[in-house]
Amino acid sequence: MYRFRNFCNCRRLFSVLVQDNFAKECEEILNKQINLELKAFYSYLAMAFHFDRSDAASPGAFKFFKNASEEERQHAILIMEYMNKRGGDLKLNAIQSPKLSFQSIKEAMLEALSMEKDVNTALLEAHAIADRNNDPNMCDFIETNFLQEQVDGIKQLADYVTQIEKSECDLSSYLFDKYLMQDSGGMHKK
Ligand SMILES: [Fe+2]
Ligand SMILES: [Fe+2]
Repeated sequence: MYRFRNFCNCRRLFSVLVQDNFAKECEEILNKQINLELKAFYSYLAMAFHFDRSDAASPGAFKFFKNASEEERQHAILIMEYMNKRGGDLKLNAIQSPKLSFQSIKEAMLEALSMEKDVNTALLEAHAIADRNNDPNMCDFIETNFLQEQVDGIKQLADYVTQIEKSECDLSSYLFDKYLMQDSGGMHKK
């Protein structure tokens, strides 16, 4: 028991050694972000396996959401690695249960869009907290690894929702646009 306590004290000391200008507020918001990334991972995984069911049978949606879930898992790991580099304490809270069934791919895409907007808001808050605590390294970590990717992801999901809606109300335009996408090399090509 004595040895174990000693070992714990050593661990504490080592973690303090690596810590430099890392505010408690920054540690807390990064722990919150890890939970959000894992929630997104869990939600995308649930979406993927909903569309893999034989009564949904949508292999494209399965592939898209499964890849998305893996990306979110990687985001959580990236933040966990960063926390250890900064000497923060990881706190892994319970992950909220995800929604398990969807009427359509559009419904799942809308759900994903709303979730990504929430994640983006949280990332911007984390960036503001890092800035307020005069932590340029954490600001750079968030900017480099998350902010642009988040904007691109939101645009992609919004585009998919629009494309689904277009295919619902004007299938010919939707299909012709697909044809243009494959064929178009400009008007005066030979
Ligand atoms: Fe993410
Ligand atoms: Fe995401």
